[in-house]
Amino acid sequence: MRLFGQGRAALVGDPATAERLGWGTRRRSRPDPELILSPREGDPRREPWVAPPWYRPALRLETLRHGPARQPHWTYLTAAPGVARDLARLAAPPDPRGFSVGLAGLGRVGGVAATVLAAAPSRVSGIRELVIHDVDAANQQRWLLELGSIARWQGRGELPLVRAAGPREIFERCDAFLFAATDGVPPLGTRGEVRMVQLAPNRAILRGFLAEARRAAFAGLFLIVSDPVEWLAQSVFFDSNSDRQGRFVGDGLAPERIAGLGLGVMWARALAAARRRGWSETVARAGAAYGPHSKEVVAFDDVARPDRTRSERLSRAARECNFKVRDLGHLPYVGPGVSSVGLMLPPLLAGREALASVFVDGVYFGAPARLTWGLYPTGRRMADEVWTALAGLHARLRARARALDLLWE
Ligand SMILES: NC(=O)c1ccc[n+]([C@@H]2O[C@H](COP(=O)([O-])OP(=O)(O)OC[C@H]3O[C@@H](n4cnc5c(N)ncnc54)[C@H](O)[C@@H]3O)[C@@H](O)[C@H]2O)c1
Repeated sequence: MRLFGQGRAALVGDPATAERLGWGTRRRSRPDPELILSPREGDPRREPWVAPPWYRPALRLETLRHGPARQPHWTYLTAAPGVARDLARLAAPPDPRGFSVGLAGLGRVGGVAATVLAAAPSRVSGIRELVIHDVDAANQQRWLLELGSIARWQGRGELPLVRAAGPREIFERCDAFLFAATDGVPPLGTRGEVRMVQLAPNRAILRGFLAEARRAAFAGLFLIVSDPVEWLAQSVFFDSNSDRQGRFVGDGLAPERIAGLGLGVMWARALAAARRRGWSETVARAGAAYGPHSKEVVAFDDVARPDRTRSERLSRAARECNFKVRDLGHLPYVGPGVSSVGLMLPPLLAGREALASVFVDGVYFGAPARLTWGLYPTGRRMADEVWTALAGLHARLRARARALDLLWE
């Protein structure tokens, strides 16, 4: 078996890509590679560009109800030019000191998320530094002072270093980027949709960040916290990989390196309802939430054996809690900052299962997922009615993506 590349990753059976990367035949003196990658046929507009052995992109949405695969190698698509940058990054050894995380947008949600991340010791969170940025200089300085005032008295373990930087440095230095900025959250008293109205202005803000990401050849994780979570994630993938005419080029961010963080708070809201009724033990063990950070999210008390009434209650709690907080005269941001980001990011970065909106068959879909280079949904045994609900929801989201001009077909 002829391998190419001298680093922790090696290619097999693809001299053309190896040449593009400048990876020569692997020398016999080199130790065995940690991962072997072979080329795969597939559609880069619809599938992850790089996939680990446990993930089978060809299963598309079916991956949600299948256990992990045991394929011999990692696989990658040759059709997307951007994949070369990702393979080079994958071959580089991870920084043993932990992750550098950039965060843009220090508002209510971003501020709470930053607080939780800044208060967790690096050896627990895996985060060595938090690089913060806000367009409002006084607000950025205020958060630098506030987060810098978080310390323990003789506690064990260093807290992450917090410093401020602009987008350029964030994309040059960070392993993961969190986008929590917004042009504006609809004020209290707004009736109806409070998330979708943010799509055009927040997508416009993201364009500036995408330009910096491109300039820096950023191959880190691009994580969306702002609303509408899934559609902003979709527009990041779409905008970073389109030419001026909106045609697919495929030299931007890989879809599996983009994700949305909004399902955590939905699950927390469902779990709170279960706790009030005394069901939380089963729900925490066997339940899950799926779908978007919106009124369409679905929660199940037990994915393999769902109780319809209980699941409807949990879904309703997940969908409606934000309006209850608004009706009390406050914008909801503590639960979101803590559950979607502060408590979600460390296990996610550590490669444990987390809740995130990840790329499944062409659109971003909230599901339990795992980071193994990219973020991929983790399948589990599920009842037919759960599968039917998820397949229907996914089809509606695909149709909406098309209507929003966020698909290339
Ligand atoms: N994912 C979730 O779980 C979840 C839950 C609730 C709300 N949200 C969403 O999170 C987003 C933030 O909400 P919020 O209440 O914190 O808003 P906010 O108005 O309190 O804060 C927004 C911050 O973004 C900053 N900002 C604006 N433009 C910027 C730019 N170009 N670069 C850097 N910073 C910029 C502003 O200065 C401000 O500090 C909203 O879209 C909101 O709907 C997400």
